[in-house]
Amino acid sequence: MTSSEEKPVLLEVRDAVVHYGRIEALHGVSLVVREGELVTLLGSNGAGKTTMMRAISGLRPLSSGSVWFEGRDISRVKAHQRAIDGLVQAPEGRGVFPGMSVTENLEMGCYGRKFASKAEHRERLDWVFDTFPRLAERRAQVGGTLSGGEQQMLAIGRALMARPRVLLLDEPSMGLAPMIISQIFKIISEINAQGTTVLLVEQNAQQALSRSDRAYILETGSVTRSGPARELLADDSIRAAYLGVA
Ligand SMILES: Nc1ncnc2c1ncn2[C@@H]1O[C@H](COP(=O)(O)OP(=O)(O)OP(=O)(O)O)[C@@H](O)[C@H]1O
Ligand SMILES: [Mg+2]
Repeated sequence: MTSSEEKPVLLEVRDAVVHYGRIEALHGVSLVVREGELVTLLGSNGAGKTTMMRAISGLRPLSSGSVWFEGRDISRVKAHQRAIDGLVQAPEGRGVFPGMSVTENLEMGCYGRKFASKAEHRERLDWVFDTFPRLAERRAQVGGTLSGGEQQMLAIGRALMARPRVLLLDEPSMGLAPMIISQIFKIISEINAQGTTVLLVEQNAQQALSRSDRAYILETGSVTRSGPARELLADDSIRAAYLGVA
């Protein structure tokens, strides 16, 4: 069995403390994502998951601690530069441009990203359409008229246009019907299998854990558990807290 322990660390958060005004939302959270991994950050409402993603993508400053990407301390690097460097977050709450076509929305994902050639850009667009056939069928449709699931696919597709080394996804299953949720998780697994490292925030514990390598449990601003996803999925206390199984 090949251990993920051997793979190099791509993303690391060390003792992150984040405040909103005087309220401390993260109390010193550490997390590691290795090359090729699919890692889930699990937690209830208000645990600090979105705050953690914002700290990683640079949308929220750290009060103390640091964020490391590809061995470099990026704590002071601006959000847009982090995205250009390959640390790409799909927009929170989908964030599709409603008046733009599917293709135009995807083009926006290339912002700041230099492609070697038009052909390479074309190739990327084709790859996203291959990954999301539903989007390919609707390439000329405006974003605002897509269904919720299709908008989520578009949000993920747009992030993928930037060729992320690490893709950050904050609750991609939120508000979607069970069938669509399964599709989204399947696609996330495929994206990961094709070589993109993924850090996923989820409340849908069963689906997320069953598809992840490792997971962290965040409770009121602190990591309380972490380990191989399979072990956490089999753990009685976690099943009781996050899977509604007594
Ligand atoms: N802009 C803000 N101003 C003040 N407090 C905030 C702000 N954003 C988040 N918080 C607080 O920080 C804490 C963590 O919020 P966060 O959004 O990170 O949680 P979450 O785990 O993503 O929750 P959810 O599952 O509901 O999305 C919460 O107590 C929340 O009220
Ligand atoms: Mg959140």
